[in-house]
Amino acid sequence: MVKSSRTRPLLVGNWKMNGLRASEAEISALAEGLGGAQADVWLCPPVTLLSHFIGVFKDAPLSWGAQDCHAQESGAHTGDVSAEMLADIGAVSVIVGHSERRRDHAETNAIVRSKLSAVQRAGMVAIVCIGETLEERERGDVIPVLEKQLRESLPEDVDGSKTVLAYEPVWAIGTGKVPSSGEIVEVHGFLRDRLDARGIGGVPVLYGGSLGPGNADWLLRLDHVDGGLIGSASLKASSFLGVIRACQQG
Ligand code: PGA
Repeated sequence: MVKSSRTRPLLVGNWKMNGLRASEAEISALAEGLGGAQADVWLCPPVTLLSHFIGVFKDAPLSWGAQDCHAQESGAHTGDVSAEMLADIGAVSVIVGHSERRRDHAETNAIVRSKLSAVQRAGMVAIVCIGETLEERERGDVIPVLEKQLRESLPEDVDGSKTVLAYEPVWAIGTGKVPSSGEIVEVHGFLRDRLDARGIGGVPVLYGGSLGPGNADWLLRLDHVDGGLIGSASLKASSFLGVIRACQQG
């Protein structure tokens, strides 16, 4: 298997707009099941729960992240949360450029780039998402689309030690569909080459989109796949642990 310099897979749970205080029971069950895990597990709950969970689960073998932030440190931006505010409550990572943010909030690569800089300025890891739509895929444009997103979403002075890249085909998110193993290896190999060429070859490249306990076994073993970004399968401890345990076998 060809992997980045990471010794363990990185699994990031993205709860999206899901979870209430009662969801604490899921985190308790997850934390209990993590003993002996052969993966690093990060969780990004909604911002309403983040501070509470960080406090309650401070001894759990989990790292905490947010799903978005504003690019500026403070100011007149009603409803927004800055990277500095997230770092202040103990978050260590922030997802930027998720396709749902790009779609629902018209986030461009330039906006994603400035958010990424904000996250790194605040001392956290930016998990930057890229991925093609079905239309782009059917046009045969996967590689050019990803190349442009990657080039424009990463600032010149990006800190590779504080960057994680997630390849998430938009058409695979929440649909139960995933690309073939050959397609994923080709894309991840391409991304790995581009990162190497920029001198940030240590950046892990995660796969995301309908990754769950039923397919984690083969997906996480593919060349150049350093872990996963997991949406719906991260909401329940049982299914997230199913993904995590896939890293343990053989
Ligand atoms: P999914 O979402 O696992 O529910 O497909 C992944 C994501 O959007 O990060």
